[in-house]
Amino acid sequence: MFSEKLLQKLKSAKSVVVLTGAGISAESGVPTFRGQEGLWKKFKPEELATFDAFIRNPELVWEWYNYRRKLIQDVKPNPGHYALVELENLFPNFTLITQNVDNLHRRAGSRNVIELHGNIEKNYCIKCGKRYDDVNLALEMKVPKCECGGLIRPDVVWFGEMLPVEAWEKAEESASNCDVFFSIGTSGVVYPAASLPQIAKMNGAYTVEINIERTDLSWFMDEVIIGKSGEVLPKLVERLKEQV
Ligand code: NAD
Ligand code: APR
Repeated sequence: MFSEKLLQKLKSAKSVVVLTGAGISAESGVPTFRGQEGLWKKFKPEELATFDAFIRNPELVWEWYNYRRKLIQDVKPNPGHYALVELENLFPNFTLITQNVDNLHRRAGSRNVIELHGNIEKNYCIKCGKRYDDVNLALEMKVPKCECGGLIRPDVVWFGEMLPVEAWEKAEESASNCDVFFSIGTSGVVYPAASLPQIAKMNGAYTVEINIERTDLSWFMDEVIIGKSGEVLPKLVERLKEQV
């Protein structure tokens, strides 16, 4: 399943970077965005995951996010998330960049996590910026309101919005300076996240894709491993521990 070249690269690697997408949470029961049961199939993204949609119909957008929050509160990290926690301990430098907002990497114990698209358990007021993170927003009101009267929104990046600049800069910097770059469970269709594997490759990294099918990125990756991340990643960790 793993080429000798990859095992050699990992044996000598000082810095490893991992980019994850919705696919790594699929085995936890969180639907992906563009898969068969994709979340976007039920809703049109522009109706929900945009700032205009929020201003037009904050109740609907909050209903959508509460649906996702409940979904995510009931699920647990899967062996793929836990394998990345073990991987983090095997290298001097390890950076985990995720497009997911489900907080499952942190719940599994990953430490150095860059959340490119925000975190569904964090919120802030669009008027005064006051943060309402990790609080259970009392949802008697259909739309949570700040003390200042402003609307509270989920702290996730919506379509058309810029990514958090610091998160993006850290992600770009780590992708530019790593020995091995993994792209795991992402379709690679949304930018700028999808440009990170190319940035890594252009800077000399050995690039590996782990996915249940080939994607838009497969053609330039050094290695494509077709399989479920929840099965492939624990096997990779086991293999690496044997060679330590
Ligand atoms: P988009 O193309 O409209 O916006 C991203 C574009 O803006 C990219 O093409 C990129 O060139 C530019 N960009 C954004 N931030 C940048 C940065 N910090 N530095 C450089 N360029 C930057 O993409 P989109 O498909 O409309 O989605 C926008 C973002 O919102 C994406 O990252 C997407 O994954 C995210 N998103 C999140 C959710 C969610 O529920 N978490 C839902 C939808 C979209
Ligand atoms: N193991 C590995 N890969 C998997 C698994 C699995 N068990 N299950 C699904 N996949 C793969 C699918 O083949 C697909 O390539 O995960 C990928 C999921 O792709 P998307 O649904 O497009 O999710 P993602 O790439 O994270 O989307 C990027 O778009 O809508 C925005 O902000 C949203 O962060 C999201 C971004």
